[in-house]
Amino acid sequence: MQKNKAGNEFNDNSEIKMKKIEQLTPSQIVEELNKYIIGQDNAKKSVAIALRNRWRRQQVTGPLKDEIMPNNIILIGPTGVGKTEIARRISRLANAPFVKVEASKFTEVGYVGRDVESMIRELTDLAVNMVKQEKTKEVEIKARENTIERLLDILIPPIKKKNSFSQKPEESAAKSVTTNTDDIITDEISPEEANKITREKFRKMLINGELDSRIIELDMTTSNMPMLQVLGPIGLEEMGLNIQDLFGSIMPKKTKKRKMTIKEAKTFLEQEEIQKLIDMESVVKEAIDRVQNSGIVFIDEIDKITSTHSRTSGPDVSREGVQRDLLPIVEGSTVMTKYGPVKTDHILFMASGAFHSSKPSDLIPELQGRFPIRVELNSLNEEDFFQILTKPENALIKQYKAMLETEGVQIEFKEESLRAIARIATEVNEQVENIGARRLHTILTSLLEDILFEIPDKRKSKKIVIDEKLVEEKLSKIVKNRDLSRYIL
Ligand SMILES: Nc1ncnc2c1ncn2[C@@H]1O[C@H](COP(=O)(O)OP(=O)(O)OP(=O)(O)O)[C@@H](O)[C@H]1O
Ligand SMILES: [Mg+2]
Repeated sequence: MQKNKAGNEFNDNSEIKMKKIEQLTPSQIVEELNKYIIGQDNAKKSVAIALRNRWRRQQVTGPLKDEIMPNNIILIGPTGVGKTEIARRISRLANAPFVKVEASKFTEVGYVGRDVESMIRELTDLAVNMVKQEKTKEVEIKARENTIERLLDILIPPIKKKNSFSQKPEESAAKSVTTNTDDIITDEISPEEANKITREKFRKMLINGELDSRIIELDMTTSNMPMLQVLGPIGLEEMGLNIQDLFGSIMPKKTKKRKMTIKEAKTFLEQEEIQKLIDMESVVKEAIDRVQNSGIVFIDEIDKITSTHSRTSGPDVSREGVQRDLLPIVEGSTVMTKYGPVKTDHILFMASGAFHSSKPSDLIPELQGRFPIRVELNSLNEEDFFQILTKPENALIKQYKAMLETEGVQIEFKEESLRAIARIATEVNEQVENIGARRLHTILTSLLEDILFEIPDKRKSKKIVIDEKLVEEKLSKIVKNRDLSRYIL
């Protein structure tokens, strides 16, 4: 059941994802990123090349294919300029298994916490779900047919032809005589035929959902082993092994009758049929293949595992340990997962970090070498801020507009007001602390606080216009007072 559930969760848009990137050229990838990220052209370009190179490598035939190593990238730039945002957008684009992890979440092997190998396990889980989802699409129709058939067998069990081989000749002859007379009485329709007609009728009703609310009793197989799960050592869980999975198939299955509506039964049986129709072995094989050849791991906040300052203190020991643990994975090694060994040689690693209190050169040298491509992201200027407010498909202004629309209120931002907001954001970033585009969030919340509070009951207007005067009015006092802006903006 667990697997079904996981499969369902993946339903959303994985298929679109799959189709898309196959054909995306580097410039198209940049174009896609442009929809959400303003500027940072160098970063977009490097990322696009690295992504396309995975595909190119796949097309190479012969022994050279194994020699082509991924262009591991490290994105460096101040806070709030789009590093994580780039990762987020790639994950939507990549028709490849993609995980984003935070370096600071990991601990050195042997310490309590998540070890770095878990990211490969996560990636593999994801790939298995991805492939399973695709396969499910292929067998869905067949599974639905089988489901209807099974329901039909419960509702109107089929009548077997009476003249079966096992019957002795004289006996069957005698029977056929009686059925013959029966036939005459029942308008020449044999019970088999009547049964067939009724089944057809019910089949239609089942398909049309006319019987959905009826109650039906199903035999369910359950492998009851709560005890074992309790006894399972923690280490196994960490390995990504689930005892239930291991022994589930060995332990005797219990069947239990359960009442449910036909509608519920349909979903339940359909999942069961899908499981039967999908060959899990080939799913796993393909999934591992995908991880090994096109998997992408994005390691965010990699600067958080450098250990320059205070070398002697406790946590740093572990941090450097995390770096050392990362080495073999990035370099290429074999990680054990619950689906089998996975080689990491050709997985693409992208890392990113602000590196404001440390430098890339503070990473242990071996790790630096494994990220040959370094891209710097620029800090954002006033014009960038203006664009970020309005251009991206998830732009803040669009978000506020959509939110107020739900209250039946139209809000309009005059261009001059947007320019003013961008200017103030730049000013505050310079004067107080540079937090990049995140400043826009804080400024907009201060600017719109009253409006958001007063709508809908305290303020009845259906249209609100934000002009420069209003922006100045609301914000200039705070901007001028450094202490105040430190807390509010
Ligand atoms: N270049 C950009 N274009 C559009 N939006 C941006 C850009 N840079 C930042 N943003 C916005 O600012 C927010 C913060 O950016 P992001 O999470 O990418 O920061 P970051 O570079 O990862 O910073 P940190 O180093 O602090 O993690 C994002 O939610 C995004 O909406
Ligand atoms: Mg980030």
